[in-house]
Amino acid sequence: MQLIDGKVVAEQVKQEIAAEVAQMVAQGRRAPHLAAILVGHDGGSETYVANKIKACAVCGFKSSLIRFEETVSEAELLAAIDGLNRDPEVDGFIVQLPLPKHIDEQKIVEAIDYRKDVDGFHPVNVGRACIGLPSFLSATPAGILELLRRYKIETAGKHVVIIGRSNIVGKPLANLLMRKDYPGNATVTVVHSYSTDIKQQCLSADIIVCALGRPHFLKEDMVKEGATVIDVGTTRVPSTLTKSGFKLTGDVDFDAVAPKCAYITPVPGGVGPMTIVSLMKNTLLAGAKAIY
Ligand code: GUN
Repeated sequence: MQLIDGKVVAEQVKQEIAAEVAQMVAQGRRAPHLAAILVGHDGGSETYVANKIKACAVCGFKSSLIRFEETVSEAELLAAIDGLNRDPEVDGFIVQLPLPKHIDEQKIVEAIDYRKDVDGFHPVNVGRACIGLPSFLSATPAGILELLRRYKIETAGKHVVIIGRSNIVGKPLANLLMRKDYPGNATVTVVHSYSTDIKQQCLSADIIVCALGRPHFLKEDMVKEGATVIDVGTTRVPSTLTKSGFKLTGDVDFDAVAPKCAYITPVPGGVGPMTIVSLMKNTLLAGAKAIY
């Protein structure tokens, strides 16, 4: 069994991006600039955004944080997005989700100029990715592809079972793994809460991606010998063993499943660190005007 070390790969990719930025700057171009809009003070969102800003510094990017109180109106938020859409000094930006209930999240996502949508959430980017056109890929699927690539895990002709059909992981990942490319050319099955044969599907899978958000859902008797298991779960489970009082827990019963695997991602330290790196890659592409 080989552990897929997302932390190590993420550091490598950030160093590669930093080297490209240094080259851009040496050629007289400005460094890529990522802006983030953060509404309210949710602990998880604060941490995510702080980590994104920190990663920008490591990559040599400029970053800006625009904060609003929880009470911000949809109109105010749309005006801020319009400003960022028009600002030639901003290459890409994100609106950290979730947003307060009185704001229509989809309306906000669609207000972002798709050419600056480094989250890859805008329907134009989702649609272009689906039909194989250059686009900003959403962070978690792109991070998983990067891990498969770096560990040279074969996907052509392999059976991949994705557990979970979310718009930001399951669906886009299924599309990407079907592409005529590497990683891709896989036979993809997506199972979800209405599927009646999850165990049988998993037992025939060469690669299982668990993205349903149920701690320890994937058990040892659902995995064939020599499979690769990618765990996207990040549920915060109360714990007396950590300072924060929480333990990040994956969707895989890791200790029991790992001995059967060829490759497996841990939680934390697997897919998680790769998602921020994917955002950094998109920002580099946005800065270089490499896609649009
Ligand atoms: N909230 C949780 N994950 C994400 C993400 O990838 N992007 C944004 N904008 N918000 C999130």
